[in-house]
Amino acid sequence: MSKQKRRILVTSALPYANGAIHLGHMLEYIQTDIWARFQRAQGHECYFAWADDAHGTPVMLRAQAEGITPDELINRMNEEHQRDFRDFGLSYDNYATTHDDVNRACVELIYERLEEGDHIERRSISQFYDEQKGMFLPDRFIKGTCPKCKTPDQYGDSCESCGSHYSPTDLIEPRSAVSGTAPVMRESEHFFVLLSEFQIRLQNWMTSGLLQPEVVNKMQEWFDDGLRDWDISRDEPYFGFKIPGTDDKYFYVWVDAPIGYMASFKELSARIGLDFDDWWNPDTDTEMYNFVGKDIIYFHTLFWPAMLMGAGFRPPTAVFAHGFLTVDGAKMSKSRGTFIEARTYLNHLNPDYLRYYFCARLGSGLGDIDLNLEDFVFRVNSDMVGKVVNIASRCAGFIHGGSDGRLASELPEPELYQRFVDERELIAEDFEQRNYQSAIRRIMALADEGNRYIDEHKPWQLNKQEGQEDKVQAICTQGINLFRVLMTYLAPVVPFTAETAANFLGQSLDQWSDLDRPMLDVTINKFLPLMTRVDPVKIEAVIADSKENLQAAESPEAPALDLADEITIEDFLKVDLRVAKIIDAKAVPEANKLLQLTLDLGGETRNVFAGIKSAYEPADLVGRHTVMVANLKPRKMRFGVSEGMVLAAGPGGSDLFVLSPDEGAVPGMRVT
Ligand code: MSP
Ligand code: ZN
Repeated sequence: MSKQKRRILVTSALPYANGAIHLGHMLEYIQTDIWARFQRAQGHECYFAWADDAHGTPVMLRAQAEGITPDELINRMNEEHQRDFRDFGLSYDNYATTHDDVNRACVELIYERLEEGDHIERRSISQFYDEQKGMFLPDRFIKGTCPKCKTPDQYGDSCESCGSHYSPTDLIEPRSAVSGTAPVMRESEHFFVLLSEFQIRLQNWMTSGLLQPEVVNKMQEWFDDGLRDWDISRDEPYFGFKIPGTDDKYFYVWVDAPIGYMASFKELSARIGLDFDDWWNPDTDTEMYNFVGKDIIYFHTLFWPAMLMGAGFRPPTAVFAHGFLTVDGAKMSKSRGTFIEARTYLNHLNPDYLRYYFCARLGSGLGDIDLNLEDFVFRVNSDMVGKVVNIASRCAGFIHGGSDGRLASELPEPELYQRFVDERELIAEDFEQRNYQSAIRRIMALADEGNRYIDEHKPWQLNKQEGQEDKVQAICTQGINLFRVLMTYLAPVVPFTAETAANFLGQSLDQWSDLDRPMLDVTINKFLPLMTRVDPVKIEAVIADSKENLQAAESPEAPALDLADEITIEDFLKVDLRVAKIIDAKAVPEANKLLQLTLDLGGETRNVFAGIKSAYEPADLVGRHTVMVANLKPRKMRFGVSEGMVLAAGPGGSDLFVLSPDEGAVPGMRVT
């Protein structure tokens, strides 16, 4: 197996610095890590460098909500993220942040070169602006009713109900998600990268043969639609890098985020003495692969390579996209407890379990990957514990019992060993192609064969007979050697288990080429449990904790985020709050959220539309007392006039709670 030594840089998509790592992220990071470890095991030079994605509006707002500076927030997140990553065994060589001077220098250099190449144009555009907050609103921070299907409360870029894409100005009754006020249109100058100038180069890159067919199809659609110029600037207030030569314009986070790959690698090269320029010049023979989720292909196959091409750097060798993680067949859900944070998992379960399970499910395509919790327990227990570890645990005792831990000097069945080693090329090809599930199938088929060998030779029986010590030693030497092959193949997948196995064997399992020779005539160490069975109770604990996290996370944040401006007592007294009795309630069929309530105010009745359909059956409300705003100016809605407002608490959906006065309050009473 003499192969040319490749030089490879791999990256994962940079997690945003505004939240915790969850198992969806981990799917990608484990996929990347297995690939990096696999490449190193082939003797290649392979680095894994990435960072936190520190910039952008959500980070800025989250810091505001917590009452800390963005710097404090991103430092804390960086530490937390890295702790999660280390505990999951990610073998990255460098972890940076996009908010540092190395990245700033890379961003400025690329920007300058794009400008010198006349790839940037300035244009005035008009955009939604939140006058109360004093900021332009990104699409995701504008909400309103979908222009197509009329579902209320949809984001400014697309509708979650009917899936249509539109521009925020198409929304019916747009609202700022930051302050709740109606935004106004305002002009400002923006910087655009003229993307279509890169079309031919991008098309050539696309057909280089390394991109997944699904990715090529998507790119083709974008080319067919015509490439749109890319707005790379954002106005103040923003958390990011200032655009040189301006004093109130910032680079859009998606400019400096992918450049973060480059900057992280640059830091690494300075630290360990790599030739940065050699790695990034356009005709380098080094390779770069960016692992990303299917949601961010656009950024990675158009913007990122275009920036690199325009600035005289090498584009990625390939961008590898994967699908999304579902849990038990559905999108991760906070209320079901399946929105599992990395730390919650680690508090209860061995990281190698998840690494193994993801590996066994991952293919090279873009399909979603399901973490089926029952299957997870079954697969890990039957494959890893029942098959792989079992071979070692069945052999180790006899070697230590009869042979003082010494392996025989010959294999009784060298052909069987050879058959295991002969699978190496096929398994390697599967890993190379990111067809991990196929690699695992091959490895587990070998594990079955190994167990059959031991079943047939029954060392536990021979061991009881006189004068069979050599035979027992030979059989177990064979078994231990088969185990060594399996663990070598699995080492990129389950690094913690592999390390314990390496200690047991007294030999590293790092290089697949070491398998050329079996392990003979050496002393091995005492067997330690390599991996115990998954305990389903622990999984229940993870789910329970995830539900609790939800409550803990939501209560302190909610008030800080949307706290209204201070008012005086006089302002407050202008609001005429009254006790009302709900005398009738019915659903408004044309509206997804509305109930029509008839309220008795003590002599007067009011018609009120309330957005509480998702939380209440109309019948359950009839007869209840509640609190209403009685002097709200009547509002004309599509279904009639609403004459007031009922008070309810909660974020929405099924979590909405209509307020009720204590017993004794009667309709019409003033609430102060
Ligand atoms: N910050 C950007 C990436 C910038 S890369 C220059 C971002 N961050 S993210 O935190 O939202 O996501 C990071 C990666 O995790 C993305 O590749 C994303 O697709 C992936 N995943 C996030 N949730 C996921 C699942 N539920 N399932 C699988 N991958 C998921 O995007
Ligand atoms: Zn819609």
